[in-house]
Order: sequence, then C-alpha cells, then structure tokens
Amino acid sequence: MYSLFKTWAEIDHEAIRFNIRQIRKLIGPRVKILVSVKAEGYGHGAVSISRTALSAGAEWLGVSHVKEALELRAFFPDTPILILSSGMSGHTRLIVRNRLTPVVCSLEIARDLAETALAAGTIANIHVMLDTGMGRIGVWHENSLTFLKQISQIKGIRLEGLASHFAAADDPDSAFTDRQLADFLRVVKEVKEEGIDIPLHHIANSGALINLKETHLDMVRPGIMLYGIYPTPHYRSRIELKPVLSLKTRIAYLKTVEPGRTISYGLTYLVKKKTRVATLPIGYGDGFSRAHSNRGEVLIRGRRAPIIGIVTMDQIMVDVGGIDGVAVGDEAVLIGEQGGDRITAEEIAERIGTISYEVLAQLGKRVSRVDLNA
Ligand SMILES: Cc1ncc(COP(=O)(O)O)c(C=O)c1O
Repeated sequence: MYSLFKTWAEIDHEAIRFNIRQIRKLIGPRVKILVSVKAEGYGHGAVSISRTALSAGAEWLGVSHVKEALELRAFFPDTPILILSSGMSGHTRLIVRNRLTPVVCSLEIARDLAETALAAGTIANIHVMLDTGMGRIGVWHENSLTFLKQISQIKGIRLEGLASHFAAADDPDSAFTDRQLADFLRVVKEVKEEGIDIPLHHIANSGALINLKETHLDMVRPGIMLYGIYPTPHYRSRIELKPVLSLKTRIAYLKTVEPGRTISYGLTYLVKKKTRVATLPIGYGDGFSRAHSNRGEVLIRGRRAPIIGIVTMDQIMVDVGGIDGVAVGDEAVLIGEQGGDRITAEEIAERIGTISYEVLAQLGKRVSRVDLNA
C-alpha cells in the first residue's frame, strides 16, 4: 500500500479524537482547549493534527513561531492561533494582518502591535506571559501588575489572555508547581481588583492538566498528551491515552554475515556468530537518532531485532538471525505495535537518554506522514 514511501509515519486520527475526548472528560465542558501543534505538531504534521483536534472539540491552536502560525492560518481562517514564543519584533504587520494572537512580554512590542493595529483600523488581541518560575520568557510575576496596568491602557490592543508556564509539572508532588500556581493566581486576583478584565487565564500543560485540576482555569494547553504520550510514567494510571504515531519502514536488503565481519562505520559491531542482517532505509537524516547505534530495537514479524552498528544518515542494520522467514520487503516497526508487542516513544527516549518530545519532534520531512482514520 505504501510502496512509494520507503519509510513512513502512520498518524491515527481516531487516537487524536480519543485523546481529546479524554482531555474533555478531565476538564469539563466550559474550559477551552488549546492544542500545542508547534514543531509540526510534535512531528506528526501540524495541519492534519489541527484539523482533527479542532473537529473533535479543541478551540485554539498553539504554535511557537510566526511562520508556523502563518502556515496554519492558510488552512484555518477563523481559528484563534496563539504564538507561544517571544521575538516578534519586525513581524507585527504579519501578526495583525493575519489576526494572530501573540504572547507579549515587553511594552515595546505591545506598543508596536498597537500602532500597527490602529493604522490598519483594527485591534490586536494579545496574551501576556508571566514568568512564575520557568525562567524562559515572561514578565516576572512580582513586577507584573504595573506592567499589566500599562498594557491595559494602550489603545489598539486588547488584553485577552494571561498565561504562565510550569517548569516541573511532570513531577506529581512538586512544591515548585504549587508555588507557581499560587503566584499566578495572586496576580490574577490583583488584576481583577484593579478592574482590569482579562477573559482567558491559562497555565496548564499536559502534566498539570492531568495532575492538578486547579490549574485548568479558563483554558488548558495540552501538547504531548494529545499525541497519546504521558508527560511522565507517573500519570499512566490517571488517564488512558492512545499513541497517535507509528514509525514504519521495510527491509531493503538482506544478507548472511559470517563471524569476523564488522557492521557500519567505525567498525563498532563485530559479528561473532553467523547471522542474517537486514538493512532498513531510515537513519539520522530522517530524525532517527544516531544515539540508537548498537542500542535500539525494531519489530519484525512480531519479534525484536537489535540495531547493530552505527546509525548512518539513511540506513540502519538490524540482526534478524533469530527470526524465521524474514524477507526483503518485510515491514519493520520502529515506533508502534506489531504482533502483540509495542515499542513506544517513551521506551526509545529512555533508551537513548532523551524525552519522548524530542524523539517525535525530530522526525524529518523525508518520513512520509500517512493519515489513517482522518
Ligand atoms: C507555553 C507552552 N504551553 C504548553 C505546552 C505543551 O506542553 P506539553 O507538551 O508538556 O503538554 C508547551 C510545550 O512545551 C509550551 O511551551
């Protein structure tokens, strides 16, 4: 069926709909859902993921950069799109013209947006990001009231949202998270007392959404859980999620290898016993990390075949000596299920010393995305 695609990622849209339903069950009907589809929807394909998530009840799209937002605007003319990173000086006209919603944490940018909006005869919606402990972008919460008062008086912009971001929400017992929430809620209260009306308060990423109901506020911003991945194994028992992406390829070449031969660059793998070695057309040029060298496994005919030798840019080798009947063209599963066994993004992340976010987000353009149940 996928003969054109050497290596492909199957995206199960039914799993996305399932995960959105699970999120909705946790947050109830009134809280809005912004789905984080930055970095090409965590490697899944931003447009197709957005389409399914929106049709399943998400209301907002969240991206990192103006460029990502513009790509989505072409497909979703009326959906609110929040740009979650800073650094939009020079892009204010694009933002205003395309009705994008930036997260703002400087007066200079706010004024720039306001001027651009007024010149275009419109008003730009903005969200202000508070830094309650992430230490990335945002106005420090201690100084934020003065900032928010100034922002609220600028004509040409509308303060639609107030946001912050958790630094340790994957820790189920984090006192730091509690403090971040308390600091955020203190500012929310002070702002209200000043008579400044902000319709949308939001702070919850996946970890907080699952772990702390008090963080749901007016809107939640799930990313990783939308893709069926737990932000930490601690939360596995708290909610059922279905993985969306499977990464697959096919055996391109098969050979018998005698003892004494070495496999791949650097001669790091020495064959000790006569075996069969399969070559798969995937490598670090596809975003399959070189850290899998002599370490990973893939599923072939429902059995685990170890990756042997160094991962090259376009190809890897696996030992299939222990698996009967292997043939060129056999499907190999790098992430996903085959024959009752499953390799998860979490398992891979642990094996190569990273997080599942990175395993998924780095999958490259050369990997064809194949939409199932869309
Ligand atoms: C500002 C912001 N909100 C929400 C998210 C979603 O986080 P997660 O994927 O952990 O749910 C991210 C992702 O890093 C983010 O940067």
